[in-house]
Amino acid sequence: MKKLIAANWKLNHSPQEGRAFFKEWSQLKVNADRDLVVFPTALAAEAVSESIHALKLSFQWGLQNFWVEAQGAFTGENSAKMAKDLGASWALIGHSERRTLIAESNELINKKVKHALSLGLLPMLCIGEGLQERQGGRTFEVIARQLEEGLKDIGEAVSLAIAYEPVWAIGTGVVATPEQVQETHHWIQQWLKDRGFSGFRILYGGSVKPDNAKQLLSLPYVDGFLVGGASLKTADFQKIVEA
Ligand code: PGA
Repeated sequence: MKKLIAANWKLNHSPQEGRAFFKEWSQLKVNADRDLVVFPTALAAEAVSESIHALKLSFQWGLQNFWVEAQGAFTGENSAKMAKDLGASWALIGHSERRTLIAESNELINKKVKHALSLGLLPMLCIGEGLQERQGGRTFEVIARQLEEGLKDIGEAVSLAIAYEPVWAIGTGVVATPEQVQETHHWIQQWLKDRGFSGFRILYGGSVKPDNAKQLLSLPYVDGFLVGGASLKTADFQKIVEA
């Protein structure tokens, strides 16, 4: 399977900036055989979808967040169904910023995984431990619970991506060591296999940059990245894609 590199733009890039990003990207000579995914803001989604289509780029895209119903009385929420109709392929679910800032529970995350799958969107489920949990030796306990509850009752035959993002490495410039990444990815892979999953990819996220991408991507069990800050500039993202 090709390595997958995903850009999590978070609350950055307006529709105009999104268009400008892809215009610049279309002029780069990107030399790598990767699956590429971008998660723009909901407001920039249409601009992103149009740019990808008009410039014939090999990007797929998805929403960073959505509600668990396609439509109805849910003021302020996004519809995954509308995103799907606009051309979305992916759904980012369980990002640590939403778990901590918006208090999303594993139960809600599980509903989102099921809702995405019911629409034919591929879930990218984010999991990861906090610093105290890592220091207290509870990493595997925490991510086991996130996997167990997040993937509850979804059936084994689904394709999905797991993004392992240690919370202490997100946006901090502190990247997990190759040993930590490899050990945790191996553990996740075993967990998924033991439960009959196949066709999944395990991505690493947390301060991935042009200068550490090559080493991380060469590790066993690392099938790609979820990149935040370094995905905002085409030049940086290009280097990561080509790593
Ligand atoms: P970062 O963010 O690359 O800026 O650390 C990663 C993420 O939050 O997905």
